[in-house]
Amino acid sequence: MPIPTRRSFDSVDPRWRVLLTDDGSPTLVQSATAEAMHSGCGAVAETRHVYLQMSGVAERLARGLATQVLEVGFGTGLGWLMTAEAALAVGAELRYVGLENRLPPAAVIRQLGWERHVQHPDLVGRHLDWLETLDPQSPRRLRIDRATLEIISADACQWCPEAGRAARSGPGSSRFDAVYFDPFSPELSPQLWQPEVFGGLRQLLRPGGTLVSYCVSRPVRDALTASGFLVHKVAGPPGGKREVLRAVTPTNDAGESTG
Ligand SMILES: C[S@@+](CC[C@H](N)C(=O)[O-])C[C@H]1O[C@@H](n2cnc3c(N)ncnc32)[C@H](O)[C@@H]1O
Repeated sequence: MPIPTRRSFDSVDPRWRVLLTDDGSPTLVQSATAEAMHSGCGAVAETRHVYLQMSGVAERLARGLATQVLEVGFGTGLGWLMTAEAALAVGAELRYVGLENRLPPAAVIRQLGWERHVQHPDLVGRHLDWLETLDPQSPRRLRIDRATLEIISADACQWCPEAGRAARSGPGSSRFDAVYFDPFSPELSPQLWQPEVFGGLRQLLRPGGTLVSYCVSRPVRDALTASGFLVHKVAGPPGGKREVLRAVTPTNDAGESTG
C-alpha cells in the first residue's frame, strides 16, 4: 500500500517539526535526524496498542490494580498522558517514571494539542503547566489524584544498568510492572539496545513484568534473550507495523542478569 502524504509544520523551536500521523494525532520529528517520536501510522494508535495494551498495563488499570510503569524515552509525554487517563478513569494508583535526556520544550509540547486526544478534563492542562516550571536538572514529581509522574533527566545508557544494580538490593515493592522501551531506533541509538541496558531493566521489573517496544529486529531480540527475557513478537497496531515486541521476565525471577 502506498504511504500517504503526511502534513507537517514548523514548531516554535527549530529543532522540532510537527508531523500529523495517519490517525489524526500529531508527533514530533527531530529536525537534525528526521527521526519521528511515533509511528507515522498513528501516534495515539501506536501508544495505545504497543505500550498500554501489549504491556498488560491497560488491563491492570481497568481492574483497579496499583501499577508502576517506567518509560525509556519520555518524549512528548503521550505515553504518560494516555496511561494516566486510564488510571484516573477508574481511580487506580499509578506510579509513572519517565526517563529522558532531551525533553522538548513545554511550548513545543503545547503545540501538539494533546487535549484533543486525551479526554480527562484536567490532565493535559496540569501536565503542561507543570512542564513549564520544570527544572531539567532536578527530578520533580507531578501528582494528579492517585497518579504520580516523575521525570528523570538522565542518559538511559548509564541510568538503566546503575538503577538495575541498585534495585537488586532494594525493596521488591518498588519494582515496575512494565517498561515502555521507546528510545530512538537501533540505527540512530545502537548503544541503547544492548544487553547492559536490558539487563538493568530486567532487574527493575518485578518477576513476570513486561517490556514492550516497537522494534522486533533480530539483534534486539537476541540482546533481550541474552539478558534473561522471554521474548515474543506480537501483532502490531491497526494500520501500523505488522509485529511489535513483548518481552517478559521469568515469574521466578530473582533479578540475576546475564546481560
Ligand atoms: C521515540 S521518542 C519517545 C516518544 C515518547 N514515548 C512519546 O510518547 O512521546 C524517543 C525519546 O527518547 C529520548 N532519548 C534518546 N536517547 C536517550 C537516552 N540515551 N537516554 C534517555 N532518553 C533518550 C529522545 O530524546 C526522545 O525523546
